[in-house]
Amino acid sequence: MRCTFGLALLAGLALGRPAPEPASQADSAIAYVDQETGFTFSEFKAAYSLTQNIVYRIALPSNAPSGNYNAVVQVVAPNQVGWTGLAWGGNMIRNPLTVAYPSGSKVTVSSRWATGHSTPASYTGATYTLLSKGNRVNGTHWQYSAKCVGCTTWTGASGSQRINPTGSARLAFAYSPNKPSSPSSNTSTIPVHDVANYWSHDFSVGLNSNFDALLAQNGAA
Ligand code: HEM
Ligand SMILES: *[C@@H]1O[C@H](CO)[C@@H](O)[C@H](O)[C@H]1NC(C)=O
Ligand SMILES: *[C@@H]1O[C@H](CO)[C@@H](O)[C@H](O)[C@H]1NC(C)=O
Repeated sequence: MRCTFGLALLAGLALGRPAPEPASQADSAIAYVDQETGFTFSEFKAAYSLTQNIVYRIALPSNAPSGNYNAVVQVVAPNQVGWTGLAWGGNMIRNPLTVAYPSGSKVTVSSRWATGHSTPASYTGATYTLLSKGNRVNGTHWQYSAKCVGCTTWTGASGSQRINPTGSARLAFAYSPNKPSSPSSNTSTIPVHDVANYWSHDFSVGLNSNFDALLAQNGAA
């Protein structure tokens, strides 16, 4: 199955209401306070089937400087997920792709960039540091929490892009049930996704006035 935009239809059915335009899942994000790391995240649960979600959470600083600023991304995926990607510009091409996959008891995060609908290359414009807390693989799920430097600004197909921390913008995700060939390597080959979809994400519900102090508390100052 390779279903790019069909998830909107599935999501509509799952909610027992008529399917909207086959474009995106139910929009927005809710605030989620993570007791483990202390960050307040904007959270969106992206359905990759009728019954299963991958949870994407983003924490941003309240007083972000006008240029690039740091972000924290937290993802919770059922063990059936072989890899998942988050696209910060809302589509596959020419924006930071945060790809991750479980590797034994750890999670590998990989920085990627695609110039077409083919395997994304490594991307040095965004770098990730796993927090000291909020990472695990257990009997049902895998989860990571990482600081990203370079996820909030980039040069896309139509020039400079910057995520407005007090606004909403389109994010996208991709899901595959299949595992990368070398899961401990952040440059592993990854198989193509079965599902990709996008939504409008409200970043403003995940702002943190003590962002830098929280990074320090999580070993990622
Ligand atoms: C591993 C190799 C990959 C291949 C071969 C691949 C291929 C493709 C293809 C062919 C499409 C168009 C599907 C259609 O229109 O029916 C697509 C769409 C998409 N892909 Fe990928 N992809 C790959 C990795 C990724 C990764 C890592 C992400 C990370 C988020 C991603 C995100 C998306 C998204 C969001 C779309 C839909 C929006 C768009 O077309 O830009 N893909 N991909
Ligand atoms: C992989 O990890 C190394 C060491 O942290 C880092 O320098 C490199 O940029 C990463 N590459 C990708 C593709 O994430
Ligand atoms: C397994 O990890 C998930 C994701 O962090 C968490 O929600 C769940 O409570 C954990 N299960 C157990 C038994 O600890």
